[in-house]
Amino acid sequence: MPASPTATPEHIKDVNTRYHDAAAHEYDAKWGIDFGGIGQDQVRAKLVKALGGGEVGRFDDALEIGSGTGYFSLNLMQQGLIGRLTATDISPGMLAKLASTAAGLGLDDVTTVVTEAETLPFDDESFDLVLGHAVLHHIPDLDRAFAEFKRVLRPGGSIVFAGEPSRYGDRLAALPKRTGVFVAPAWRQVVGAHERLVAEADQSEGHSLEGEVDVHAFAPADLRRLLERAGFDDRRVGGEELLANAWGWGLRTVESSAEPDSVPFRWRTFAFRSYIALQKVDTRVLEPHLPAELFYNLLVSARKPA
Ligand SMILES: C[S@@+](CC[C@H](N)C(=O)[O-])C[C@H]1O[C@@H](n2cnc3c(N)ncnc32)[C@H](O)[C@@H]1O
Repeated sequence: MPASPTATPEHIKDVNTRYHDAAAHEYDAKWGIDFGGIGQDQVRAKLVKALGGGEVGRFDDALEIGSGTGYFSLNLMQQGLIGRLTATDISPGMLAKLASTAAGLGLDDVTTVVTEAETLPFDDESFDLVLGHAVLHHIPDLDRAFAEFKRVLRPGGSIVFAGEPSRYGDRLAALPKRTGVFVAPAWRQVVGAHERLVAEADQSEGHSLEGEVDVHAFAPADLRRLLERAGFDDRRVGGEELLANAWGWGLRTVESSAEPDSVPFRWRTFAFRSYIALQKVDTRVLEPHLPAELFYNLLVSARKPA
């Protein structure tokens, strides 16, 4: 459920801060975020796809928007694709988690700054790359945010955003979510998992805000227009993940109905392998042939004129 159409920008930002602060501690476990080889391969593939599929060089100074716990940027940094990272987020709790993960991974050139995307506290032309994952759909005034992204980029610098929900993809995801709720009791019996005692949504005040944090689901044309209005060149909007996402939402829905410790390791292994197999079918067979509209995740890239 998205934020109410009458919610003010201040309310949306306040809810996002409180929800993500409350979620920070368990965020990586909840979303299966990985900082090993698997996570690194996943984010590299997203960056390459977003930039059109060719060779990708190193970005010396990168600014991440809505960094959360660092899934996108810290994994890119570990592969040497980012030199220095300035990680920003509206939630201090998320950035605290990112800083401790970066320290644990031995990544030194990481600075964290609490800020919202629409007013960035950085000088003009400070970065080679502005990037983000699953953040644009939370930002109330996207024209203002994109103007800021362009201002802080050096001439010729790039923006890359991935993991943004598409409007049709969002509707399609409702089906596996509903199916997951329906089959969850039978699934728990088959795999021997125990019913969750306290529903995820009732765990804390933060979790109960989940339905209010999202503001947008995009048509690719919306994103193209935003890039054009902001004055970017080399604009690309693509889609990724159809089968993998539908399956992933179904898996997540049944798994969230059980006490996490009671879900057998064998099931988790099966779930992960099946998700990766479907992701390959999406990448090799569906993504090159179907329109971006149909996929769950949208990928965006563009360049500031040199
Ligand atoms: C869905 S999470 C994604 C986090 C991370 N990028 C990832 O992929 O795991 C969205 C993040 O955007 C942040 N956020 C929400 N609204 C924001 C805003 N207006 N400006 C900056 N960050 C915001 C949230 O605090 C949260 O950390």
